[in-house]
Amino acid sequence: MTVEASSTSTAKLLTYPLNAWYVAAWDYEITAKGILARTIAGRPLALYRTQDGRPVALADACWHRLAPLSQGTLVGNDEIQCPYHGLRYNPAGRCTGMPAQETLNPSAVVPSFPIVERYRYLWVWLGDPTLADPARIPDMHQLDSAEWAGDGETIYAPCNYQLVLDNLMDLTHEEFVHSSSIGQEELSESEFFVTHDEHSVTVTRWMLNIDPPPFWLKNMRDKFPGFSGKVDRWQIIHYSYPSTICIDVGVAAAGTGAYEGDRSQGVNGYVMNTISPEQDRSCHYFWAFMRNYRLDSQVITTQLRNGVHGVFGEDEAMLKAQQEAIDANPDYEFYNLNIDAGGMWVRRMLERGLAAEGRGDAPPQRAKEYRLTGSGGGAAGSASAGAAGSASAGAAAAVPAAVPAAAPAPAAG
Ligand code: FES
Ligand SMILES: [Fe+2]
Repeated sequence: MTVEASSTSTAKLLTYPLNAWYVAAWDYEITAKGILARTIAGRPLALYRTQDGRPVALADACWHRLAPLSQGTLVGNDEIQCPYHGLRYNPAGRCTGMPAQETLNPSAVVPSFPIVERYRYLWVWLGDPTLADPARIPDMHQLDSAEWAGDGETIYAPCNYQLVLDNLMDLTHEEFVHSSSIGQEELSESEFFVTHDEHSVTVTRWMLNIDPPPFWLKNMRDKFPGFSGKVDRWQIIHYSYPSTICIDVGVAAAGTGAYEGDRSQGVNGYVMNTISPEQDRSCHYFWAFMRNYRLDSQVITTQLRNGVHGVFGEDEAMLKAQQEAIDANPDYEFYNLNIDAGGMWVRRMLERGLAAEGRGDAPPQRAKEYRLTGSGGGAAGSASAGAAGSASAGAAAAVPAAVPAAAPAPAAG
C-alpha cells in the first residue's frame, strides 16, 4: 500500500510558531560571568545572568547602531554594556547610561524577552509577551527529578526543525539508521497506535517476546547482571506542542507483566528531546537520556550519554543529508506512509498554531489533501504487517482528516 499526495503535499520547510516556549540553553550555559549569543526562532539573543542568578534574554542588537550586545560586557549587578560606544542596559532592556551624554533618550530600549528556568533548561518566549504563561512549558520533569538520573547534550542540526520531529515521531528508522545499537526488524513489523489531544500526540508501540538489541541488552545487564533471553520492548512517543518529544522506552524480561503495567523486571528510560528552531534550515536539538535504576552510578550516566551521542550522530548525518536533498529538489513533494501517522498529526498542529498566529502563509508548501492508492506489497508492505492493513485504516493513520479533534484517533502501521 502506498500513500500518494494529490495536489500539494507536506511542507518541507515549515516555519516555526513564535507564541511558544523554546529552550535557549542548558542552565549551565548561561552565567553571570559572560554573555551567550544564540539565535532562537530567527531572533539573535544576548543571554546572561544577573549577579543574583536571574536569567536575562535581550535582543542582541544595540538601540544605537545595532552592535551585538553579546560582544559587550556585564557591569554592575545586572547590566550589560554595548561593546561599541558603551551604552548600558538593565534586564528590562532599558538604557541606563550613555557615556557621551548626560541626558538619556527615553526611547533607548532593546527588546527583553520572557525567560524561565525549568528542568535544567532556560526557556524563552519570543512571541506576544502577554501570552507567555510558564504553565505552557512542556513537561520534562524527569530531567530534574530525584527519581531519574542521566545527562544529555545539544546537537546543532543543519535542517528544518520539522525534520527532527518527523525523525522522532517514527522510530522504524532505527532498523535502518541504528542497526548496530537499537535497531531491529520487529520495529517496522509491529503494530503501533496514535492518539492525540489538542496539544499533544502519542505514538505507542510494543514488541513482545523479542531478542534485545545490543543497547538494551547492556542496560538489562546493568540492572540484572548476567541477564539473557527474550524481552518485551516498548516505545511510547509523546509530543507536546510545538517541538518537545519525550519518549518512554525500555525492555523487560519477556512475559513478566510489563505490557500489563509491571515494569519491575525491566529497565526504563526516557529520551528527552526538545528542538528550538534557529532559522529555516537549522535548529538546536537539546536531548537527554534519563533512567530510573542505578541512579547513583556516574559510570552508567556517562556510558548512556556517550552511547546515545553515537546513536544521535547517525540521525544528525541523515538529517543533514536529507535537508541537502530537499534543497536540491525544491519542487519535489513528500510522500506519506502509514509510519508517518504521528508526524502528520504534529504537522497539523503546527500548521493550526501558525494559522492562529496569522502566519499560516509562511510555509512554502501546505498539507492539503491526500489519497491512498493500491493495496498490499509496495514500499509500505512490511509496515502494515501484523497491523491494520486495509486502505481505510491506513488512510485514518496517515491522513489526519481535519484539525485534531477531541476524541483519540487510533492508528496502526
Ligand atoms: S552601537 Fe551600541 S552604543 Fe553605539
Ligand atoms: Fe534515530
